Amino acid sequence: MNTASHYHHGQWRQPVARQADFNDVDVWIDLAERLEAGLFDGIFFADQVGVQGPADGDFSGNVREGLHLPSNDPAVLLSALAVRTKHLGLAFTSSIVQAHPFDFARKVSTLDHISRGRVAWNIVTSAVENTARNFGLDHLPEREERYRWAAEYADVVYKLWEGSWDEGAVLKDRERGIYSDPAKVHRIHHEGERYRVLGPHLPSPSPQRTPVLFQAGASGPGKAFAARNAEAVFIAAPTPEVARAVIAETRALAVEAGRRAEDVKFFQALTFVIGDTEEEARAQEAHLESFISPGGYLIQMNYGNRPDGTPYPLDTPLSEVRTTGSQAVLDWTRMGVTAENPVVGDLARILTRRNRVVGSPARVADVLEEWQAAGVDGINVTNWHIPGSYQEVIDKLLPELRRRGLARTSYTPGTLRAKLFGAGDHLNDRHPAASYRGAFATGA
Ligand SMILES: Cc1cc2nc3c(=O)[nH]c(=O)nc-3n(C[C@H](O)[C@H](O)[C@H](O)COP(=O)(O)O)c2cc1C
Repeated sequence: MNTASHYHHGQWRQPVARQADFNDVDVWIDLAERLEAGLFDGIFFADQVGVQGPADGDFSGNVREGLHLPSNDPAVLLSALAVRTKHLGLAFTSSIVQAHPFDFARKVSTLDHISRGRVAWNIVTSAVENTARNFGLDHLPEREERYRWAAEYADVVYKLWEGSWDEGAVLKDRERGIYSDPAKVHRIHHEGERYRVLGPHLPSPSPQRTPVLFQAGASGPGKAFAARNAEAVFIAAPTPEVARAVIAETRALAVEAGRRAEDVKFFQALTFVIGDTEEEARAQEAHLESFISPGGYLIQMNYGNRPDGTPYPLDTPLSEVRTTGSQAVLDWTRMGVTAENPVVGDLARILTRRNRVVGSPARVADVLEEWQAAGVDGINVTNWHIPGSYQEVIDKLLPELRRRGLARTSYTPGTLRAKLFGAGDHLNDRHPAASYRGAFATGA
């Protein structure tokens, strides 16, 4: 996230942690260049357009921790990274709450042009009450309603990206003085519950047209939305077994929706501590733990506060804790609780340790093979500090994975979608957005 303290709170205090200076574009350019040299698929930005915690609650903890506050817009940053990289995928999160779909679709097409087809959009519905207040709502709508909203939002942007401009519309015919062919550019005439959008889409088709579609959110309605829309799902399952179940269920739903199981890829969030030896890794872990701020994790997950904003005492039994945050993340976190009568204080410790893999390169690679066997296609490496957490993966883990044939040795040319799926630049015909191709050709 384009902020000082995204996920592992307290770590920005480390002298080597460049995220403390996240306003400095060179921090991100340096990271993107390292990731590309290491042949990563992409850089993935989470985002929140509101302060974590209750809408009207005390946010002094967020301010003190640098927890998503201050933060900057990831999409704007990606345009800088796009011109300093050639192959790296550029994924960012944008909530349906924060931008009108007409404007959002235009922004994404522009980024896809600038990056020559490397943009991915993580479609989220927001889980933070303060976000609702920032965009004129009293409260976030209920989960089912948010996903209905997301379905219409997706429809609008699909119509603009896939249906407004036919292939070959742009002629740049200097002789005849025709820039684009009027017969091939269409209005979309969208009239829905929340949006009325006439069109046409203002940008001409970008290399991918629709960006690679990520989704994060794994409640029942979340999985159904992913099954229909996502090409990549970002999960944070506590174990490979839990991942296996989420993947199987989502893929079965995708097949029901007329897609193929392999049309949806799954990326698991993991945090690594890698040493040349097990002892070195354990020593490194102890060093990282000395910077942990447990309170930051509780603020982020909304689990440390009652819905009215007052904090739970640390000895409150976990069974009494309610959250306004992500149901899936809460469920996954509870699954990680092994103490007999866990309390809020345990939760902080669990949250700091979740999805952590510690050891030598060989040991970490063994663990990754377990995730792969569960159906996970890739890993979202969540960092302790930037750029060190990634450099460690590049220097220590990737050579081991390459020895096992589990990581690429060069980039293939082309767009992000072509790199990930090896089947062209555009969404495949099984995706619902494909139905809008040519759909607006009459009555332009
Ligand atoms: C792994 C994961 C990552 C997420 N990342 C973000 C994010 O960066 N920004 C955001 O607004 N919501 C994020 N969400 C929230 C979801 O988009 C969704 O709004 C929320 O999880 C509620 O839906 P659910 O109950 O289906 O999970 C994330 C959720 C999960 C599970």
